[in-house]
Amino acid sequence: MNRIADTSGPVRAYQALSLLVVALFFLQPVLAGQFQYNDKPDYIDIHEITANAIFALLILQSVLALLARRAFGIGLFALNLLIILLAGAQIGFGYAARDNPDRLAIHLPLGVALFGLGLAAALFGWFDLRGQSTNPDEPGEEAAEHVA
Ligand code: HEM
Repeated sequence: MNRIADTSGPVRAYQALSLLVVALFFLQPVLAGQFQYNDKPDYIDIHEITANAIFALLILQSVLALLARRAFGIGLFALNLLIILLAGAQIGFGYAARDNPDRLAIHLPLGVALFGLGLAAALFGWFDLRGQSTNPDEPGEEAAEHVA
């Protein structure tokens, strides 16, 4: 697995920020466990503040993905846009759950999915996973070595 070789500012900033965002995605269910099952109702406010922070940071992360598109490829920018869209829906379902707890049936699995997508967005920022094809018709770096 090849590390992204480019060490320019936007690449480095993206790498750091994407790890922070993954950590915040991980924090969300931890906080939910506290206000939902551990008798700490105030933690819902921290969950809400974290949600807003995640959304703002995702916008910044997308801008960085766009600036660093030569290193990452434009696909990572597209992935970040998808994550913003789903995070917006996630926040909507979170507020909707105040009046209608049924909405948690979407909010919870979408939270898990967002963690996975956030992790993927971070991994693509650190590693060049695009040249991993072993299909000789579509040689990536390793496949090309085999052919040679
Ligand atoms: C697996 C991860 C998550 C779990 C288990 C979870 C769980 C919950 C629960 C139980 C509620 C309370 C709903 C109610 O009022 O009854 C809630 C509210 C909320 N969640 Fe999440 N959540 C998760 C991830 C996220 C993420 C990733 C975001 C945003 C990026 C988010 C944003 C919100 C918001 C904005 C609310 C409304 C807060 C309020 O009413 O003040 N959640 N969540």
